[in-house]
Amino acid sequence: MESKPSLDTRLGRDDPFSFGQRTLTNEEEVFTQNAWDNVEWDEEQFNQFLKNIENQKNNPVNEFNQIEFNSKPKKYWDLFYKNNQVNFFKDRKWLEIEFPEIFKCLKEDAGEKTILEIGCGVGNTMYPILEKNKNPKLRVFGCDYSDVAVELVRSNENFELLNKSGNAFSSVWDLANEEGEIPADMEENSVDIAVMIFVFSALNPKQWETAMKNLRKVLKPNGIILFRDYGRYDLAQIRFKKNRYLEDNFYVRGDGTRVYFFTEEELRDIFVNKGGFKEEKIGTDKRLLINRKKQLKMYRCWLQAVFKV
Ligand SMILES: C[S@@+](CC[C@H](N)C(=O)[O-])C[C@H]1O[C@@H](n2cnc3c(N)ncnc32)[C@H](O)[C@@H]1O
Repeated sequence: MESKPSLDTRLGRDDPFSFGQRTLTNEEEVFTQNAWDNVEWDEEQFNQFLKNIENQKNNPVNEFNQIEFNSKPKKYWDLFYKNNQVNFFKDRKWLEIEFPEIFKCLKEDAGEKTILEIGCGVGNTMYPILEKNKNPKLRVFGCDYSDVAVELVRSNENFELLNKSGNAFSSVWDLANEEGEIPADMEENSVDIAVMIFVFSALNPKQWETAMKNLRKVLKPNGIILFRDYGRYDLAQIRFKKNRYLEDNFYVRGDGTRVYFFTEEELRDIFVNKGGFKEEKIGTDKRLLINRKKQLKMYRCWLQAVFKV
């Protein structure tokens, strides 16, 4: 049996990112705000997290469904977008604060720049970028392996307009494709910034290595990766019930899409030690969200990172 993780090896917090600055100092004030930043978990709570995870592990997804979800992951994202259309993910307003690197490329005189959004969904990051763009020499690629998602990106009323000016490209592309293919209309080693927002968690851990190879193939020397995704012990992990556990920290949601929950150490191992990228920064965003009406406390945990070729 695995030894119990100690409180010290739980996610810490790094300062280089902005995250939020509202700190809860008096527990009695918890329901007076909608959110608190940099919240620590106490021992009792952490033990409960471990207990939940143990229960999930004792009630895994059956073998038949394991094969189904791991062999046809794209099918379930296609279904997701057929059901939700463009209405599920919200535009990422925090992008500008957390990833200023993107917005430097949008300045009028920034010169030739290429941004690739991987797992772009319906374009919730791609469109805010294009709308703010003042750089005539910027190219933005939005890629996703779901044909349905890419179709939704392309049918956005802005797409044709932006595409006409040669700025916007969208195509079906699998980050973890074994053939080493790169997105349509793109040259190898041409990307300045690869944006990966809640996409890496959708991969099976067995695909991480291939994804690293493909990333290296698209990025320029000195290119960077901007990353945000689920952190270990996020509420989304803790609240999984029976028959959702695929393997350690890797689950399938009710809609058939898969999700992994990372630690800082794992990201370092995947991207730096094994992937060969340089670590610019890795941080943990631990936040307590409050539903004041229902008097609910929701402990969220996300990881954010910047890696360089
Ligand atoms: C949780 S959604 C995030 C969408 C978008 N990045 C956002 O933040 O709104 C994950 C997206 O990654 C896509 N995806 C999952 N695995 C992928 C892969 N191997 N290659 C490309 N896209 C993938 C899914 O189709 C889905 O659109």
